[in-house]
Amino acid sequence: MMVAGPLRVAVIVGSTREGRVGDRIGHWFLGQAKGREGLDPVLVDLAEFEFPASYPGRATGQVTEFAERIGRAEAFVIVTPEYNHSFPASLKQAIDYAYDEWQAKPVGFVSYGARSTGVHAVIQLRTVFTALHMVSVPDGVGIDLLTGDLDELLTRQTRAAEVLLDQLSWWGRGLRAARQASPYVA
Ligand SMILES: Cc1cc2nc3c(=O)[nH]c(=O)nc-3n(C[C@H](O)[C@H](O)[C@H](O)COP(=O)(O)O)c2cc1C
Repeated sequence: MMVAGPLRVAVIVGSTREGRVGDRIGHWFLGQAKGREGLDPVLVDLAEFEFPASYPGRATGQVTEFAERIGRAEAFVIVTPEYNHSFPASLKQAIDYAYDEWQAKPVGFVSYGARSTGVHAVIQLRTVFTALHMVSVPDGVGIDLLTGDLDELLTRQTRAAEVLLDQLSWWGRGLRAARQASPYVA
């Protein structure tokens, strides 16, 4: 199927924790992406899904819905906190519910933590997304929540968000063309 038009970007909010800040950060990044020409960004908030506690033998409606939303997107931004030098279980659970839908697409990261900027979470996510045959863009947004008020910290990240979106757009368009030219080899 030939796809044209703006690049469909899914901004995935990875924390489902009660009292999380991830939703604020996700909506901020969505706003940055909406301000760009050539992008069609949507928020995918994992807190809105009711996933089963155990990996099901047969996909539930919510699992299928999630995989379909991943399949519709052409590029991803993962908004992730750092939990114990990694990323949250809610995010890994969701990632594992799709496979082909992730392939041959780019991913970038908006990470945060308290003391760290979420760098440990990002390092591990790059490994996970490489296993899913994705390209992770080198530059991202990283926020140490202990260094100031969240609104101020986000304002300081405007340029970093632009750079992330530049790289994601380039790869997104390139990989769209590549997928249209021939099926991915996985
Ligand atoms: C279980 C847990 C473990 C955490 N471990 C780390 C950590 O290793 N490094 C860090 O910088 N912050 C750590 N934090 C702080 C979180 O990054 C911070 O609370 C952040 O707000 C969590 O994101 P959320 O509010 O969107 O869930 C941890 C928080 C929790 C709840």
